[in-house]
Amino acid sequence: MNYEFILTHIEADKVGVITLNRPKQLNALSTPLMIELGHALKAFDEDDQIGAIILQGSEKAFAAGADIQAMSQYNFSDVYKANFITRDWETINTIRKPVIAAVSGFALGGGCELAMMCDIIIASENAKFGQPEIKLGIIPGAGGTQRLPRAVGKARTMDMVLTGSMMNAHEALQQGLVSRVVAQDQLFAEALGAALTISSFSKLSVMAAKESVNKAFEGTLSEGMHFERRLFHSLFSTEDQKEGMDAFLNKRAPTFKNQ
Ligand code: HXC
Repeated sequence: MNYEFILTHIEADKVGVITLNRPKQLNALSTPLMIELGHALKAFDEDDQIGAIILQGSEKAFAAGADIQAMSQYNFSDVYKANFITRDWETINTIRKPVIAAVSGFALGGGCELAMMCDIIIASENAKFGQPEIKLGIIPGAGGTQRLPRAVGKARTMDMVLTGSMMNAHEALQQGLVSRVVAQDQLFAEALGAALTISSFSKLSVMAAKESVNKAFEGTLSEGMHFERRLFHSLFSTEDQKEGMDAFLNKRAPTFKNQ
């Protein structure tokens, strides 16, 4: 598939990089863009050489939200019939390899929600997160009212969702929305470093770890603990577990075969 609204490339034969590429519209997330993004994510997920994926925007905007130009023409029957958001935005939630959002500039509305659908968010110092949909007469529709309170709590979420105010990078770090904040010119290097580290591990344990952490956000604690324990047990059937532990005991680097 030839892409019009995103760019893709591979770093070090191991890391898939997707760059949102509608800079003039601050990477407004149109349906065609989201279809391309879903396609690229799936292609990297299915590529055996790829261990992790980085999703980035431009310096000014990770993404300033769903495309308001397009949405301004929609009425209820359009969005309901087309299953708007559900049909074209959810692919990222099916990706089994870790996806790292490298956020510079605005991550607003659907842009903030897209970042929160990723597994790790690394922000540059100029990053700004917000759910300003209230100013448009709507509410967040891709998880903003659900994932944001899980990350930063009810009070801060209510404030952002009801007033449309933004959260800066340092507050996002303090509140646990992002895991690292770095200077803008270090953002890609930092994300790539994390992606390469992840790629050096067994894909089996990486996928199991991601699946297990995500389980913490669904169901009860005891269900999540049970799920984690069974995945943990199952990894003892892999060659990579033998290799990882043998390498540690013999003070050498492991060679994982993803088996
Ligand atoms: C379409 C957008 C856009 C968007 C910016 N642009 N955001 N176009 N959809 N979400 C366009 C502008 O119209 C403008 O086009 C160009 O990008 C540059 O934007 P400016 O506003 O001139 O830039 P600036 O003054 O620097 O302000 C930046 C900004 C502002 C604060 C980010 O653009 C802004 O408030 N954007 C909208 C943010 C928002 O409300 N997002 C939530 C969308 S609703 P022209 O042609 O004039 O140059 C949403 C719903 C999610 O996401 C539901 C489920 C997904």
